[in-house]
Amino acid sequence: MSKKGNFGHSAKPNQNMRIIIILFVGMIVGFFIGVSFPSFSLTKLNITSYLIRDFAINGNNTTDRSTQKSIENNSTRNQNVKDISKIWVPSNPKGAERLPAGILASESDFYTRRLWGLPNEDLASIPKYLVTFTVGYNQRNNIDAAVKKFSDNFTILLFHYDGQTTEWDEFEWSKRAIHVSARKQTKWWYAKRFLHPDIVAAYDYIFIWDEDLGVEHFDAEEYIKLVKKHGLEISQPGLQPNRGTTWQMTKRRDGSEVHKETTERPGWCSDPHLPPCAAFVEIMAPVFSRDAWRCVWYMIQNDLVHGWGLDLALQRCVEPAHEKIGVVDSQWVVHQSVPSLGNQGQPEDGKAPWRGVRLRCQREWNMFKSRMANAEKDYYKSMGIDPSNFTAH
Ligand SMILES: *[C@@H]1O[C@H](CO)[C@@H](O)[C@H](O)[C@H]1NC(C)=O
Ligand SMILES: *[C@@H]1O[C@H](CO)[C@@H](O)[C@H](O)[C@H]1NC(C)=O
Ligand SMILES: *[C@@H]1O[C@H](CO)[C@@H](O)[C@H](O)[C@H]1NC(C)=O
Ligand SMILES: *[C@@H]1O[C@H](CO)[C@@H](O)[C@H](O)[C@H]1NC(C)=O
Ligand SMILES: *[C@@H]1O[C@H](CO)[C@@H](O)[C@H](O)[C@H]1NC(C)=O
Ligand SMILES: *[C@@H]1O[C@H](CO)[C@@H](O)[C@H](O)[C@H]1NC(C)=O
Repeated sequence: MSKKGNFGHSAKPNQNMRIIIILFVGMIVGFFIGVSFPSFSLTKLNITSYLIRDFAINGNNTTDRSTQKSIENNSTRNQNVKDISKIWVPSNPKGAERLPAGILASESDFYTRRLWGLPNEDLASIPKYLVTFTVGYNQRNNIDAAVKKFSDNFTILLFHYDGQTTEWDEFEWSKRAIHVSARKQTKWWYAKRFLHPDIVAAYDYIFIWDEDLGVEHFDAEEYIKLVKKHGLEISQPGLQPNRGTTWQMTKRRDGSEVHKETTERPGWCSDPHLPPCAAFVEIMAPVFSRDAWRCVWYMIQNDLVHGWGLDLALQRCVEPAHEKIGVVDSQWVVHQSVPSLGNQGQPEDGKAPWRGVRLRCQREWNMFKSRMANAEKDYYKSMGIDPSNFTAH
């Protein structure tokens, strides 16, 4: 109380003077700071002018009028000036030509991110491979065993065809996995919709696997090593032969790392370098390189959901196919043939559900074959080549 009073009422001249000097020194220091950092105000100005220009662009006044006037006579220049704020980059992806190329993010990944902190510190590790399983909850124990064969270098993506997703949280890894749910759809339906090559561009290899594979003798890191070593763009693990095994090509061979060709029953192969004697893997457990998948994705038909016939056509996506498609023998799996999704099909002839599914599969195979043949014919025709000289593989 007394001190305050002192200052207010009977301020000593010394103290007043001191305050004035401090204020004065402060002003001078402030002035010099201002003078010595002119860039600060310039930056501020630039930001403001950017804001104004952005605003003008948004308001559909896309030209800087003063600049335009000063060089009105030069029509070429004039054109260019208009373009300064009206961007058009023809090499951008279709539909994005209005954007400056540097802002385009045309590829993506399945890396989950935090909601806080710095974006560049979000990812503790960056998985280089992607594995997808199309699953029903009934197969959870098999999938749990399979997932454990894939290291942290893999992003795990589950496609759920039975609507059960949170139930999987009983497994520790489920919380890190990506879950996509759509009822009663097949692996190739999901693959077409959720694995666009630009979306999975971050991954060197993509595993698109069924849920009924026994993986006791499989290790994903070892598998990748072999695929790289042998230059396989499309591959699958060897299948332990059982009564369901149909193709010689995909049977596991003892004492071999990888094989790329086989002999089939007489008359089955028109060419030893073509399916099913070479350049061939089945659709239950394929593994694609990034480049091969980019091609295969385009070949998948939206309505042909079972993928029958796709296996025989994979060889169109790599060159030479008989060298870049193969079966990894030393990391092998067992196909358990659990027709769980098939059981969810609709009966077509009033009998067992799987019969309707099987009929559909065969139809799809025929449709795929004829679409491919027609597309090829159209191509040769458009090139002015007599298509009757060519036959579809
Ligand atoms: C564009 O600018 C002119 C004059 O500079 C102004 O009269 C007009 O309203 C502006 N139009 C829009 C859409 O902002
Ligand atoms: C922008 O202006 C041009 C002509 O200056 C006009 O043709 C166009 O319709 C305008 N666009 C919008 C969104 O107002
Ligand atoms: C530019 O064009 C204006 C008329 O639009 C004209 O008055 C002026 O002389 C021209 N300038 C030159 C350098 O040609
Ligand atoms: C017009 O502008 C272009 C490009 O800036 C320049 O090369 C050309 O010499 C100019 N022409 C005239 C007549 O000023
Ligand atoms: C993950 O990949 C890196 C690089 O290829 C490799 O060094 C590492 O051993 C892999 N991790 C596991 C668990 O295998
Ligand atoms: C095939 O090609 C040959 C020569 O290139 C040509 O003479 C013939 O007419 C073509 N068509 C058929 C059906 O062989």
